[in-house]
Amino acid sequence: MHLAHPGLKNPEYYVPGLPVDHVAQRYGISPAEISKLGSAENPYGASPKAKAAVAEAIESMHLYASWTAEPLRQKIADTYGYEPNQVICGSGETEVIALIIRAFCEPGEEILMPGPCFPIYHLFAEAEGRVPVLAHQATDRGTMAMDVDAYIDAITPATRIVFVTNPHSPSGTWMSEADVRRIVEAAPHALVVLDEAYVHYSGGPGYIHLAHDYPHLIVLRTFSKAFGLAGLRLGFGIAAPSIVDALLAVKPTWNIGQLQLAGGIAALDDDEHVERTVATIIDSRGYVQDRFEALDRFRMVPGSASNFFLVEILDPDIGSTQVFEGLLERGVIVKDGSVSFRGLDQRFLRCDVNLREHMDRLVAALADLP
Ligand SMILES: Cc1ncc(COP(=O)(O)O)c(C=O)c1O
Repeated sequence: MHLAHPGLKNPEYYVPGLPVDHVAQRYGISPAEISKLGSAENPYGASPKAKAAVAEAIESMHLYASWTAEPLRQKIADTYGYEPNQVICGSGETEVIALIIRAFCEPGEEILMPGPCFPIYHLFAEAEGRVPVLAHQATDRGTMAMDVDAYIDAITPATRIVFVTNPHSPSGTWMSEADVRRIVEAAPHALVVLDEAYVHYSGGPGYIHLAHDYPHLIVLRTFSKAFGLAGLRLGFGIAAPSIVDALLAVKPTWNIGQLQLAGGIAALDDDEHVERTVATIIDSRGYVQDRFEALDRFRMVPGSASNFFLVEILDPDIGSTQVFEGLLERGVIVKDGSVSFRGLDQRFLRCDVNLREHMDRLVAALADLP
């Protein structure tokens, strides 16, 4: 008997980057010898200020937190120059994405997204009976960057939501403010979602200010990356109050607990941690780019402004799954493009930028493949 709705008959789930323990056990490699380059986490761990605040907040763990995450909303609003009623907090940005799909698109209606893109967009759309439209034609195969004109052409009167990811995932490429504005202005009848999960690694402030200019735009951010709080689960969106009000109505009421509240508020004051992380990632990005020059069967796809990049396999006799498995045997975890991103075939892998020693391991392991 199948009780779930028909769209959930053979559900497809998100494929996360593999954990260290799994690889250590399967290949008998010591965890210290493993490079985890498939989940774009922070090499320095959590913000120390957030850790201290979470430890203190344990004392209030028996109390329900504000259902709108009010103290955090206030802090986010103050930090970015908005009002608290323009902020929606989620258990990770992922939850905010789920709420957006539910609130701004009816079953059977269309959601436009780049192809390839962060898979959560289409997985949640399908699970909720909405129709994801992946604009594969808008991805340039040489740079893997998005062709903005082609993406704008893909917007139709039937489009209800338009996703834009900047820096993009999986390519890491960066879009100019003028191009983002062009997309937003081409879809006045839809909700445009600007996902800035990796914005810190661009080295600039990003485009969160655009939510002041457009009543049909929501800008999303996460605490999982530069703040190092992927395991705490915290993300947020900034938009016009009417958009936030709709999202509050579909939000599971107490989605943010006391520990998340405290950690998020403290992390926003931890400039030192963010700056150290960003400086390291930008340094390592240049470093690994130079190291790739020595490889002749693999190409680092240029242009990443993020903490990951695409590797293209130039040797036609090997595929991404084979390379993925070969790297695992050598203690290096990455993402197999053919498994992790719809529309990326057997030619690509996505690898994190991390400390130089891990970049050395990645390059050495690629060079060592048969
Ligand atoms: C493009 C993009 N957006 C959003 C997220 C969601 O992050 P979280 O749910 O951890 O806040 C991720 C995580 O990998 C991502 O790659």
